[in-house]
Amino acid sequence: MATGLSVQISEVVKRYDSGLSPLKGVSFQLEAGKFLALIGPSGCGKSTLLKMIAHLREPTSGKLLIGRGEPEERRLAYVFQDAQLLPWRTVLGNVTLPLEILGASKVEQELKARKALERVGLIDFEQYYPAHLSGGMRMRVSLARSLVNEPNLLLLDEPFAALDEVTRLKLDRDLRDLWQESQMTVIFVTHSISEAAFLSDRIILLSKKTGNIQYDLINPLPSHRTQETRALPAFAQLTQDLFLKFQDLEA
Ligand SMILES: Nc1ncnc2c1ncn2[C@@H]1O[C@H](COP(=O)(O)OP(=O)(O)OP(=O)(O)O)[C@@H](O)[C@H]1O
Ligand SMILES: [Mg+2]
Repeated sequence: MATGLSVQISEVVKRYDSGLSPLKGVSFQLEAGKFLALIGPSGCGKSTLLKMIAHLREPTSGKLLIGRGEPEERRLAYVFQDAQLLPWRTVLGNVTLPLEILGASKVEQELKARKALERVGLIDFEQYYPAHLSGGMRMRVSLARSLVNEPNLLLLDEPFAALDEVTRLKLDRDLRDLWQESQMTVIFVTHSISEAAFLSDRIILLSKKTGNIQYDLINPLPSHRTQETRALPAFAQLTQDLFLKFQDLEA
């Protein structure tokens, strides 16, 4: 898997035409290969920031540097809350799509797609259509599609928010494992404090009031995470700590 990209954000301001300015000078640096969770209240600008990192939006001012800033080195994947699969394509057909667009041979497309499906535990479902899958399986297909091109920067915007809790906990674990097997950099947007605590190396909490970073924490949990991690006193301490910080923001 490709070596992760670093991300440098300097004094980024975003003002929409409506006059609303969710981000008012955000700066941080993320080392290559890290797993960052971005949390904060609704409307604080998490999705806006993620879209700017993906070059889907321009900042009003400030700078974003992804890797060395060379477009050729960028292998970016973006996962949305909704799986966004093409209903007329099979699971395999959905996962081969990014490679098809890049003009890879059919053999290469299928080889890589099957590898990605294996990694998300869906290899036996390649001929299924999205309508015949559960929500969790559809999200796994979406993850496989994002992994098929071996991204060096994976951006996820509340990908598991619509799933039931057990499926979500399982996907959290799988994503953490997938990341550990790789060298990619991950930025994960979530509303969930416990999800941020479980998944990340580092947590940035954005404030809607100030339009800036309120807290920036290194996750103290051991790097290897399993279901048991959630029962550790350190996990309870971290989520409580985050909860209080979150509450501070809203006060
Ligand atoms: N294209 C747009 N035009 C105008 N305003 C926008 C646009 N996109 C977002 N906004 C506004 O910018 C603010 C931040 O939006 P954003 O979607 O980044 O928030 P968020 O932190 O992702 O929220 P949520 O947790 O609800 O997804 C919101 O007030 C939103 O209404
Ligand atoms: Mg959002």
